Amino acid sequence: MDNPGKFYITTPIYYVNARPHIGHTYTTVVCDAVARRQRMMGLDTWFLTGTDEHGQKIERSAAAAGCSPRAFVDKIAAEFRGLWDRMKITYDDFIRTTEPRHVRGVQSLFTRLQERGYIYKGSYSGQYCVFDELYVDAAGPGSPCPECGRPTETVHEENYFFKLSAMEGPLLQYYSEHPDFIRPETRRNEVIAFVRSGLRDLSVSRTSFKWGIPVPNDPKHVIYVWLDALANYMTAIGFGSDDPKDQDKFARYWPADVHMIGKEIVRFHCVYWPAFLLAADLPLPRSIIAHGWLLFEESKMSKSRGNIVRSETILDTLGADGLRYFLLREIVFGQDGSFSFDALVQRFNADLANDLGNLSSRTLSMITRYFGGEVTYPSPSERTSGDEAIASLAEQTIADFHAQFEQFQFSRALETAWSLVAAVNKYIVENEPWAVAERDDKDSRARLATILYTSAEALRIVTALAHPVIPDATARIWTQLGLGDISHLDLRTLAWGQLQPGTRLDKVEPVLPRAEKSTVERMQQMEQQRSVESAIASSEEPKPAATGEGAPTSSPGAPPSAAPSLSPAGGNSMSTLLPTADNKITIDDFLKVELRVGEVKVAERVKGADKLLRMEVDIGSEVRQIVAGIAKAYEPEKLIGRKVVIVANLQPRKLRGLESNGMIVAASLGDDGQPVLAGFLEDVPAGAKLK
Ligand code: MSP
Repeated sequence: MDNPGKFYITTPIYYVNARPHIGHTYTTVVCDAVARRQRMMGLDTWFLTGTDEHGQKIERSAAAAGCSPRAFVDKIAAEFRGLWDRMKITYDDFIRTTEPRHVRGVQSLFTRLQERGYIYKGSYSGQYCVFDELYVDAAGPGSPCPECGRPTETVHEENYFFKLSAMEGPLLQYYSEHPDFIRPETRRNEVIAFVRSGLRDLSVSRTSFKWGIPVPNDPKHVIYVWLDALANYMTAIGFGSDDPKDQDKFARYWPADVHMIGKEIVRFHCVYWPAFLLAADLPLPRSIIAHGWLLFEESKMSKSRGNIVRSETILDTLGADGLRYFLLREIVFGQDGSFSFDALVQRFNADLANDLGNLSSRTLSMITRYFGGEVTYPSPSERTSGDEAIASLAEQTIADFHAQFEQFQFSRALETAWSLVAAVNKYIVENEPWAVAERDDKDSRARLATILYTSAEALRIVTALAHPVIPDATARIWTQLGLGDISHLDLRTLAWGQLQPGTRLDKVEPVLPRAEKSTVERMQQMEQQRSVESAIASSEEPKPAATGEGAPTSSPGAPPSAAPSLSPAGGNSMSTLLPTADNKITIDDFLKVELRVGEVKVAERVKGADKLLRMEVDIGSEVRQIVAGIAKAYEPEKLIGRKVVIVANLQPRKLRGLESNGMIVAASLGDDGQPVLAGFLEDVPAGAKLK
């Protein structure tokens, strides 16, 4: 049944209760790089991504945002799709679990499991975590979910159950017969230990909410979100359809070759999913690959921790290639890795602007200047050992890069390719083509031609290898090399010496300009602006208790959050606003807070209080005195003229004998709560209201 020339890869489908951030981007970029490369290796590749749109969590997020679930999911799904387009993600299909093709496919899978005797009706009384859509054993009313730490809710439900307990033996046998099914090894071991410790039947329907796929012939129940979500990998390629074209597609691509996931959803993919498939007598995916987390300030980047970085900020400053390269080069695949703006800009400047950018521009401009823009003829007779060394390093680089990329060692593969870039840059410096060009004899001319051919050929090879990772810059270098459209490139035949002498270069332009020093600050400001906007515009869910967002198997959870939070500097927190039972405030509560733009007119230190600044802030209608605890982070002189966000309708209070009429809004970073003032990128007048 399997088609050996095909390659089917999937990302998880992302929840639409939150906007995309660079954690989601990470998985998607990894899959895109793999899919692009497999296409260039001649495989019939299918790359699927999409959005997970059902469940109580999403129903509640929509209600909190004051719109219907449908309108809510449409909006966020469009944001994911728009972001993937900007990131140059070459997905072949984008599945949404609210689409009819998916609904039909999930119902068909459910019926198939029922008919094969793996689903029965029972009842459940106990605790339930809405966030993880999970029943929690042995927990009393209100006790925290062991996965996320949020309070559980008590439910009494009649449910359909899946006979997961019957799958213990078959799963263990499958894992042992397919050692590459779960990667890396540590995850595989955790999964095996989890299954060995015993499996209980799994509830696969809910009656407590409506936003889901109805159970066939019993629409009071909706199908458990994970059964619904996991099935996307099959429904997107035609499972459950009567149309012969869909059936052909399913036969062509199923089983998937790679399900790429983050480590926190290992249990769902490596236990439940194969159990459903075994029970349904359908082929299992070839491999499930779990990567680590992107950390920001030491904890997992996630909306609930409030420590996310949006990809848009990086796209607006460095572009897609910059972010793609950083994610694959900086994070060792499989392990957790830290994100920081500093590291991002450093990598961009060092590896892309300096190393590759310079190699490309100096090589191509010298060919233009000294040889009228035609690729030179290397001298067949007089190759130096330096020339030979570059040629053989390039051959070795091709072989190593392929092997490392195949093993998902993206960082090493890029390191390998950039060693060639460094070697060629060094070769150019040592051979001084600009000095050789000064000498107008025949031998020097031949020497110059060889140096430039060697450099251009090495550039071509690195460009080809790096294309799946940095598609834009490489496509432009390829065109400038006179090679046309890079999408026609066949990576299988890439070898030294294929660059044809005499090829006419295209117009040479810089491809990877250096990022300015101020880029880090600009990105930080943009993030700050975006977090103020989203804190104001969206109904953020409450932060979980600091238990860490542990992986579902026995893997350790993340450390307690050191995430930045938005709070008025120097005092009260917004969370003191009338929280409801689920810790959310209503829009009416929020509207009680009057947020305004202010312009700092006067700022000075408060005697005897090393943390406090006294400011006079123009809020349009009046000038207010505000005392804020930001003196350690801001020089008073530098604040004059700065636009800030203030809470304008707080009751006055006295600090060190000075009356403070309002509060300044700032992010609070790290354990010591270092304040960073909220601000705007556009010019806004003092007095403007925020809403
Ligand atoms: N909807 C489920 C998946 C269903 S798949 C059948 C879900 N969605 S999610 O929106 O929470 O996305 C989780 C995935 O996003 C992770 O598994 C990972 O691929 C990616 N990431 C989200 N945050 C991440 C980090 N901070 N770091 C790395 N990857 C991250 O779970």
